Formats: sequence, C-alpha cells, structure tokens
Amino acid sequence: MNSVLVASNRGPVSFTVDDDGELSMKRGGGGLVSGLTGVAKEHGVLWVCAALSDGDRSAVRLAPGGRLDRAGYDTGALRMLDIPAATFHRAYNAVANSTLWFVNHLLYDIPNSPCFGTKFRREWESYRDYNGAFALALAEEAGHGARVMVQDYHLTLTPAMLRAERPDLRIAHFSHTPWAPPEYFSLLPDEVTREVLDGILGADHAGFLTRRWAAAFMDCCEALLGARVDRAAGTVAHEGRTTRVGVHSLGVDGAALWARACEPDVESHMAALTEQVAGRRLIVRIDRTELSKNIVRGLLAYREFLDAHPEWHGKVVHLAFAYPSRHDLPEYREYTASVQRCAREIEDAYATEDWDPVILNVNDDYPRSLAAYRLADVLLVNPIRDGMNLVAKEGPVLSPRCALVLSREAGAAAELGPYALVVNPYDVSGTAAALHEALVMPEDERRRRRDLLHAAATALPPHKWLESQLDALL
Ligand code: G6P
Repeated sequence: MNSVLVASNRGPVSFTVDDDGELSMKRGGGGLVSGLTGVAKEHGVLWVCAALSDGDRSAVRLAPGGRLDRAGYDTGALRMLDIPAATFHRAYNAVANSTLWFVNHLLYDIPNSPCFGTKFRREWESYRDYNGAFALALAEEAGHGARVMVQDYHLTLTPAMLRAERPDLRIAHFSHTPWAPPEYFSLLPDEVTREVLDGILGADHAGFLTRRWAAAFMDCCEALLGARVDRAAGTVAHEGRTTRVGVHSLGVDGAALWARACEPDVESHMAALTEQVAGRRLIVRIDRTELSKNIVRGLLAYREFLDAHPEWHGKVVHLAFAYPSRHDLPEYREYTASVQRCAREIEDAYATEDWDPVILNVNDDYPRSLAAYRLADVLLVNPIRDGMNLVAKEGPVLSPRCALVLSREAGAAAELGPYALVVNPYDVSGTAAALHEALVMPEDERRRRRDLLHAAATALPPHKWLESQLDALL
C-alpha cells in the first residue's frame, strides 16, 4: 500500500497508438504536470490520473487494475482511471473547464453567460461521479494514515468524498488556479457553491499559490458557507472540522531547466531563430492558447507600440508562441482564430519585404520555446488572471538579459513584481508603453533586474513546493 498519493486529472504521461498499433508514451502538458513531474518519484508517490485519450484507454486496458509501469519518466507509479467518455466529457469540459475555470478566472461574458439550467445539473452529476471515481481509487490504493494530495479544480469534491471513506488519511487539496472573490464565485448555483467549498474543506490542508487566492477562498467560505475563518491562523472551521489554509508558491528548478535548454535540439533552434531574426530585438511570449492568457490584447499592445514608435519598425520582432489548448470547447477554438487574425492584421499593416513584425507559432514545440527564452530581450506575460504563471519564472532563468512585462493579475507578480514592468492586463496602451520601456531599458538596469528575477523565480523549486505541503500534512 502507498504512503504518499497524488491525484490529478491530467497525469504525468500520455499514450498514443501508432499507425502500426504500438503504444507510445510522451510527457503530459500544463503547469501542474511540470511542477510535479520529477519530484514525484523521489517521494515514492503513486499518481492517480484520468485516461484522457484513446491511447491512454488502450494502455489502461492492457495494464492489470490500470496500474501502469512506465520507463523513462520520473513520475513514480501510476494508476490511470478509465472513466466513461460521456461522464469524462461533462466533468472535464462542461464543469471543470467551462464553469470552474471560468469562475476562478473571471471569464464570463455576463450578459450572456453563465446560464445554469437542467443541462448543467446533469453535467454536475457527472462531475460528482468523476470525483467519486478518484475518491474510490485513492481509498483502494492508500495505506493506513497515508498522505493524499488532490490537485486542482477538476477534483474539488474528492477530498470530502475520500474522507467519508477513509477518515484515517491525511488529505491535502491544492488549487493551481486563482480563486474568485465571493461576489463572483456566487454566480454558481448555491448548492454547487456549497458542494465545492465543502468538498475542499474535506481536506486537512487547502493549498494555494499566493496569499491573494488563499484569502479569496477564505472569504468565500465565510460569506457563502457561514464557516468560521481565522485569517491570522489560516484556518477555516466548518461543521465540526478545521481545515488549514496554506500558501505554497511554486518556482522553477533553475539548474535542471538550464541544462535542458543547453541541449543540442535547443541550440539548433537558437541558430535558426538567430538567423530568422537577423539582429533585431526580440519580444517573446509563450502560452497555451487559453482564454485567460490575454494573447489578443498582447498583440493589440504590440500593434499600438508599433503605431507609436515608427523608429522601431524593422528593428524588433514579436515571437508569439500560442500552443493549442482545450480545442473541444468552441470558445477556445474561436479565441485561437482571433489570435491568428490579430497577428495577420499586424503583418498586413506593417510587414515589409525583409521584416516580419510578428511570428506566430501555433505548434507545440518545447525546444523552440526554450530557444526563444534564451534569445529574448523582452518577455511579455499579460494574463487576465493566472494562478502563478511559470513562463514569467522560466524566462529570467534562461535569458541573461530579458526584461519582464508582467500582468499584475498573475500570481507570479507577488514575487516578481518589484523587478518587472507591471501592467494592468486590460490596459492595452499601458502594455504598449511597457513594451517600449522594456526595449529601451539600459543594459545594466536590465541585467540587474534579471538577476533579481532569477533569484526570485528559483527560490521555491517544485521539490520544495511538494515537501512544504507534505510537511503541512504531518
Ligand atoms: C493549467 C493550469 C492548471 C491546470 C491545467 C489543466 O496548466 O495552471 O491549474 O491543471 O491548466 O490543463 P488541461 O490541459 O489539462 O486542461
């Protein structure tokens, strides 16, 4: 039986079935996986996740009990849950990504949405079933008194469900996203609000990336649940139980990231990019194309910068990596199309025979992103709202001279704000001005700030983040 377990929707690896019917495996995506992969094995973790693709489902069917032995990935042991496709779709797409993600990132277009009718109630049932499947698997796998770390908005109900089955366990829940203030969180139907908050309060420890998100969660517990909150102690007492609320920031493992970024595949991308950019200054952004990442306003800001500063025409390139994400949702497909349209409009307005003002890269290409970080003069990170944003932390580790333009709404701003150029993500003109300020920043000031950013970004690497939560459960 296992003494440390992690549960998350997306696991550390995913499988695909090749043309010849063979299964092949690759590393999973997203901030959560980047944070946990690598440290999980050291702690002898059993990782429970959902089967997300046909390849995953085939892999589960081939493995006794869904327990997969993997080679080549530092992830510890793994159990994948084969949740029925319709249940999974409603839980993941409709509830987790279209509801809880929207609420906590303040993404609703309020005159039109949300709209919680009977369809949503059915979807909510599936979310319950999906959380229940995780609770059941964890209850089966956990040794007596084991520590269980449940991750993110996909699994808000699992802690309370698991506690009901296994009161002996020490349970933590961790939110990798922001948390909404009560007046926004209460857009959710009352019974859903209560179930989510009660679900997380089923844990002994509820973790957040910044004080701001932890405070918003406690405000919700007080205002919407009537729980007793002690902000100084960081506790929420409700229905005879007390949950500690902790802040565990997540940074990057600077040495490991640097080592990866020096490998030959990255070096060859650097050579190609250097040739393509031909001595021009480089403004880089790297995001999954998520509604919260604010890529369109970033492009509009770059356009305003070009309008206001003709002296930079031909001397700067904006390299925007916007990787595909959640394309099962129409909002995401439309957003991707508007990102592409906006980049095209900049090209149409400004490109010359030998200058592409913007290069948009929509194919997931990790080594090429690492090469871009290394060459960046300016890194633009302007989310509407973000739990942490590791791009803001990876950039200063890899670029010796990049200035950071950072949204005040990214969790990372709490640590990096003093050394970055902080912007209001809705203020396109303000962001344009910050891009200019970043480009003209004197070299010594740029390097001074970059060193401070580097130190702040690497202060809490993933193993410390994991250990601080495991300690909180002792
Ligand atoms: C981002 C968030 C994580 C979340 C992940 C899910 O990385 O920071 O909180 O778990 O998205 O992404 P997915 O691709 O699995 O929907």
